[in-house]
Amino acid sequence: MRALFFGPPGSGKGTQATRLAAERSLVHLSSGDLLRAAAAKGTPLGREAKGYMDRGELVPDDLVVGLLLERLEEMESRRGFVLDGFPRNRLQAEALEGRLGREGRSALDVALEFLLGDEDVVDRMSGRRSCSGCGTPYHVRFSPPRVADRCDRCGRSLVGRSDDAPAVVRGRLQVYRRDADGLRSFYRSLGCLREVDASGTIDEVARFVTAVLDEEGVE
Ligand code: AP5
Repeated sequence: MRALFFGPPGSGKGTQATRLAAERSLVHLSSGDLLRAAAAKGTPLGREAKGYMDRGELVPDDLVVGLLLERLEEMESRRGFVLDGFPRNRLQAEALEGRLGREGRSALDVALEFLLGDEDVVDRMSGRRSCSGCGTPYHVRFSPPRVADRCDRCGRSLVGRSDDAPAVVRGRLQVYRRDADGLRSFYRSLGCLREVDASGTIDEVARFVTAVLDEEGVE
């Protein structure tokens, strides 16, 4: 399977991609996680990216595209992948097609757009936590860990994200809405765009995602 999950910040792409990848032995490639890891390591790319991320702006395409395409090529021979957060605009989508698309066949089997209103986005992001060790996502109300502030999987502490501050979230939403039309129309023209109602519980959305993939015959 070659799938893309895209949608507003906080709509649950990472949560669902983590789950689907574990269930079907796929690689989950999150551009945000890759950029945050580079920033934490203090690589030149990470240092440059961090300023954009903290302000809720997109990291420039020339930095992101090279990083992500390189990672994708490394795993082309694997069973499949779920992309989460890349491509994020039309230019990035064209770069992905240019590298992995084959004549008459898109680089992706399906591009799933997660649909969620702004109020729910803010609600989800204000309570988001993730594991400082393995990155497993949590929410203080919707999917809390068994022991407060400790990861169920590896026991490390949970942390919030600096770009989840309400003022930064509003900017991230604007950036998303600005670029979403271009991405949507690009994948519609390739015939692989599908929508997912992301407003239900995590289990409900997971069932919805599975139903769409089954309907499309994507394995
Ligand atoms: P990135 O990390 O990709 O952030 P995002 O797209 O804004 O998405 P999020 O990770 O915030 O949300 P999500 O949809 O994955 O939701 P999650 O599952 O965590 O990007 C961060 C930054 O990096 C960007 O702003 C940009 O600067 C840069 N960047 C990244 N990619 C780039 C690119 N391609 N080009 C340029 N720049 C790039 O869920 C959120 C919370 O809700 C969690 O707490 C979760 O537990 C909870 N939750 C999930 N589902 C549900 C549910 N159904 N019900 C209740 N709670 C739920």
